[in-house]
Amino acid sequence: MFRYLVKSSTLVKYNKSIPTFKNFNRLNFKSNFTTTTLLNHGHLHPPKKGEELYITFVLKDGSQKKYAVSEGDSVLDIAQGNNLDMEGACGGSCACSTCHVIVDPEYYDKLEEPTDDEDDMLDLAYGLTETSRLGCCIHMNKEINNIRVALPQMTRNVKSSDFE
Ligand code: FES
Repeated sequence: MFRYLVKSSTLVKYNKSIPTFKNFNRLNFKSNFTTTTLLNHGHLHPPKKGEELYITFVLKDGSQKKYAVSEGDSVLDIAQGNNLDMEGACGGSCACSTCHVIVDPEYYDKLEEPTDDEDDMLDLAYGLTETSRLGCCIHMNKEINNIRVALPQMTRNVKSSDFE
């Protein structure tokens, strides 16, 4: 449609700039492929020396993994950055419940109150407990240093078809 709207002289110039199969090989495309380190996935920031905070995950098999992390990192980012089994289907926008974690009661009251959005999503979480929270809504700070969170046995990924 656009082609019919421009003057024919312009169209000739325009067509010259469009790569065709005939001249494609003469074009000198250079693609830069890059990779990021594992810790850059999920926007993790390596902790500065002396400013490390610690979090322990209790995995589904009962084993525990402890990580040194930075202030501000979310539990979701920490889990994904370390290849733990946390889906995070909505990308951390508090719109699913696949980052559900069960917080050690010792630390639960030290967390900020959940927002209404988080409460709504928690209602959809599989295996909800009294100390359940969403991993994407917990951000590390000094108050919760050494927090322990358990990954639930299952998560529920709610789809629009579930509401039909
Ligand atoms: S990743 Fe979806 S609510 Fe946390």
